[in-house]
Amino acid sequence: MATIIGGITTSHIPAIGNAIEKNLQETPYWKDFFGAYPPIRDWLNKQQPEVVVIFYNDHGLEFFIDKKPTFAIGAAARYHNADEGWGMKTIPPVNGHEDLSWHICNTLVEDEFDITICQEMRVDHGLTVPLQLMWPGNSYGHMKVIPVAINCEQHPMPSPKRCFALGRSIGKAIESYEQDIKVVIFGTGGMSHQLDGERAGFINKEFDLMCMDKIVNQPEELLHYSIRDLVEIAGAQGPEFIMWLGMRGALTGQVKELHRNYHIPISNTGAGTMLLENL
Ligand code: DHB
Ligand code: FE
Repeated sequence: MATIIGGITTSHIPAIGNAIEKNLQETPYWKDFFGAYPPIRDWLNKQQPEVVVIFYNDHGLEFFIDKKPTFAIGAAARYHNADEGWGMKTIPPVNGHEDLSWHICNTLVEDEFDITICQEMRVDHGLTVPLQLMWPGNSYGHMKVIPVAINCEQHPMPSPKRCFALGRSIGKAIESYEQDIKVVIFGTGGMSHQLDGERAGFINKEFDLMCMDKIVNQPEELLHYSIRDLVEIAGAQGPEFIMWLGMRGALTGQVKELHRNYHIPISNTGAGTMLLENL
């Protein structure tokens, strides 16, 4: 049977991709941010998962605001990255795991989630920056990736509670998959940030740290927030935290925190990084 070995959270800010490309990891602005990743990479090297399920939001590359699925699951053999229009370098294609994707889709529909199943799908910085962070030099070719894109650009967006339930159903699906494979789950995005309007640059450190505390063993206490609450408390793009809740929902066992880092600001965002083991 497939095993879920743990969850990893990270911001997916495009500037991170640019810093990697320009080799700025050791410069004063970036040092403390990038310093969070070696222990996570060591853990991944030791654990050797075969599949990564990535909860992320597509910022307009594949789904623009004219057509926006609430939940879109990739079921392709390959996913391509493309120019998002701001000069960020594209990364090599990402391999998929079609069979596990379809197994997850079947379970989700049985569980009454009305998903969009994508047999073709381009993937944006929400998915690619985390891969670049975990596998430097784009050395993720051995990994099979399952993209789970949650709408976080066009209101109405799904609630924290709903995203956690989506994660639960995905976790159940993975654990009922008959192949003996190890699966790791990523929740990308967040933490507090607002990119536009009068409050551009708004970050709520206290709220971010509280969310990092609670997501380990009391995630249910984060589920009463509405999307509107998250906008007010954590900025217009603060709802990206629903990706973390999807990830956390998929961790079915006892969860142990192995590593965390919080760094502000990177670009306009509170950057949170966590490694949670699923015991
Ligand atoms: C930034 C953060 C994001 O989550 C994103 O998708 C784009 C930009 C930022 O802080 O610049
Ligand atoms: Fe984002």
